Amino acid sequence: MEQIVISGTGVFTPEESITNKELVKAYNSYAETYNSNNKVDISRGNKIALELSSEEFIYKASGIKSRYVMDKKGILDPDIMHPILDKRSNDEPSILAEMSVKAAKKAMDSAGKTSNDIDAVITACSNLERAYPAISIEVQQLLGVSGFAFDMNVACSSATFAIQAAADMIRSGSAKTILIVNPEICSGHLDFKDRDCHFIFGDVCTALILESKETAKSNNSFEIVSTKCITQFSNNIRNNFGFLNNAKKSSPLDRDLLFMQEGRKVFKEVVPMVSQLITDHIEKEKIKTADIKRLWLHQANKSMNDFIGKKVLGRAPEDHEQPNILQDYANTSSAGSIIAFSLYSEDMKNDEIGVLCSFGAGYSAGSIILKKTS
Ligand code: COA
Repeated sequence: MEQIVISGTGVFTPEESITNKELVKAYNSYAETYNSNNKVDISRGNKIALELSSEEFIYKASGIKSRYVMDKKGILDPDIMHPILDKRSNDEPSILAEMSVKAAKKAMDSAGKTSNDIDAVITACSNLERAYPAISIEVQQLLGVSGFAFDMNVACSSATFAIQAAADMIRSGSAKTILIVNPEICSGHLDFKDRDCHFIFGDVCTALILESKETAKSNNSFEIVSTKCITQFSNNIRNNFGFLNNAKKSSPLDRDLLFMQEGRKVFKEVVPMVSQLITDHIEKEKIKTADIKRLWLHQANKSMNDFIGKKVLGRAPEDHEQPNILQDYANTSSAGSIIAFSLYSEDMKNDEIGVLCSFGAGYSAGSIILKKTS
């Protein structure tokens, strides 16, 4: 079977970031104003008072300390509590396409490729800015790439599912060198007025180049040894935003048109599902646990990753074996495991093996076994 490699990675990180302290201050100011404005209804039992958020809780429950965002001011203004992004004309690049191009250029540089070498673009992410035309086709045009492009969405597992799709496409001959971009403006689907989840997400864009090992000239390539993707329906992470909202007479302010989750249930159900997926996958490929040098896991919750790492390796992983980036980036949906891979892979030696794994809404989970080749 033709060997396919990931030959380049790129990360575009927004300039602005928000610490837990800043986020909690804004939320608590909003909650105090809400409670004071609704004092009478609250005292009569018609409305429930909002409880305050805490920095200590956020760090202890998730491991998150800070997050990068596309707009800090709007999110931190207690009268606004969401990012404010430019409304652009149809002649200007869309925001997702613009950040994708920035990440893509870094990935192309690291793979030693130009636009002429690429013949397909996949935008794989949780939230697309519009219904059509596809963001991918816009990225293709901005970069001057020939061939074809399409968008896909498998929520937090979009990147790993795109890796599987791209590797299969290269093997079957439908493309030679594929650019995958994962633009994630998670602050756009987050309710910053909801104490249970206001701290969870951040914004970023990652990019990957996939090609045949024969054409790769990068000095940091990883062979895709095997891929395994699974899905299992669950309502525990859900967002009802969609093209029928108007027809169904939803108000744009309806809470269910933003990210919602039963965090505890997700934690309890996804940890065993993902541990089993990785364990079965490496067993099927006859790889010994002792030969797994690195786990680049989805970045949602530090304790979740600690559980999965321990189950897979049969012992607590060392920090360098399972790098976390969520303390600085928070949950960046499909981009999280790719940031960890991009930042913590160059030091690996030839023939060393690692597993890149995503998990999230759907439920969906993707396990990619990688072997360093250059
Ligand atoms: N500040 C202070 N207290 C808070 C709080 C906040 N910001 N948010 C919630 N709490 C309170 C809750 O009200 C609850 O209080 P109670 O015990 O009096 O009822 C308590 O803290 C525990 O809340 P809970 O939601 O059960 O916390 P948790 O330990 O499960 O942590 C998550 C919450 C979201 C961090 C955690 O469940 C998680 O990460 N789950 C996995 C999510 C995931 O991977 N999702 C994929 C998304 S793409």
